[in-house]
Amino acid sequence: MVERAKNITADINNISFNYAKTSIFEDFSLEIPNGISLGILGGNGSGKTTLIKLIAGLEKAKKGNIKLFDTNLTNTIRSKIGYMPQQNALYNDLTVLDNVDFFSRMYGINKKSHRSKAIENVLKTVDLWERKNDSISTLSGGMQRRASLACVLVHEPEFLLLDEPTVGLDPDLRVSFWEYFNKLTANGTTLLITSHTMDDAMHCDRLIFLKNGRIIAEDSPKGLLSATGNPNATLEDSFIYFNSKESGGKNV
Ligand SMILES: Nc1ncnc2c1ncn2[C@@H]1O[C@H](COP(=O)(O)OP(=O)(O)OP(=O)(O)O)[C@@H](O)[C@H]1O
Ligand SMILES: [Mg+2]
Repeated sequence: MVERAKNITADINNISFNYAKTSIFEDFSLEIPNGISLGILGGNGSGKTTLIKLIAGLEKAKKGNIKLFDTNLTNTIRSKIGYMPQQNALYNDLTVLDNVDFFSRMYGINKKSHRSKAIENVLKTVDLWERKNDSISTLSGGMQRRASLACVLVHEPEFLLLDEPTVGLDPDLRVSFWEYFNKLTANGTTLLITSHTMDDAMHCDRLIFLKNGRIIAEDSPKGLLSATGNPNATLEDSFIYFNSKESGGKNV
């Protein structure tokens, strides 16, 4: 039994990471408490996907360490994670149902009756139950994103790593996804989510602004807005404010 001594889902300690000679993170640290939604905002290439891959164990830090649920990444811990990559990792020739079934087996839902129920629930959640027998290649882009989400939700992970999950979703579905995400965090699931959409960001409990592999601000969305001193500020304004502050006012 894994104890959650510090009520911390992810504890990232002074990690350094580079792709070949390019340094992406240098002495980077971050603590993610249990049961919150943490949004990562940052420009293209700021390191969001790399950070998620490091946490999921798909990339390895050259220095420092990452603990999940107060322990090092093992297969047991891995089964508590649901990782949705930025690019869909689906089998295009298989049906929606077969894709989700594949992931549910991979994540160890062994009993057929459990699997069937879990698959039905998750496909209803992402509103794809009616399309369950269609192959992935015949779905729209937004539907494929929803299928991808179903694949990582099916085993009810305790820690969800979602890399731009709402890209291509229509506004109604975005709202229902956030209702669902909020239910998950209320039940103790931790959510790490990257997005370029300020609407997503406003739904998060906490946000970090990432720039060149460094956190330039971390707070609740409200806190980040009020830091600008402008009562009408948007999160874009707040990002520009912190970006400019960090660059000594030169980079507005
Ligand atoms: N496999 C790779 N090999 C070499 N460099 C990489 C690789 N993956 C990412 N990088 C580089 O690492 C940096 C961070 O990339 P990353 O994908 O983490 O950014 P991101 O914040 O997710 O961007 P985006 O918003 O475009 O998804 C970029 O400079 C990118 O070119
Ligand atoms: Mg990315």
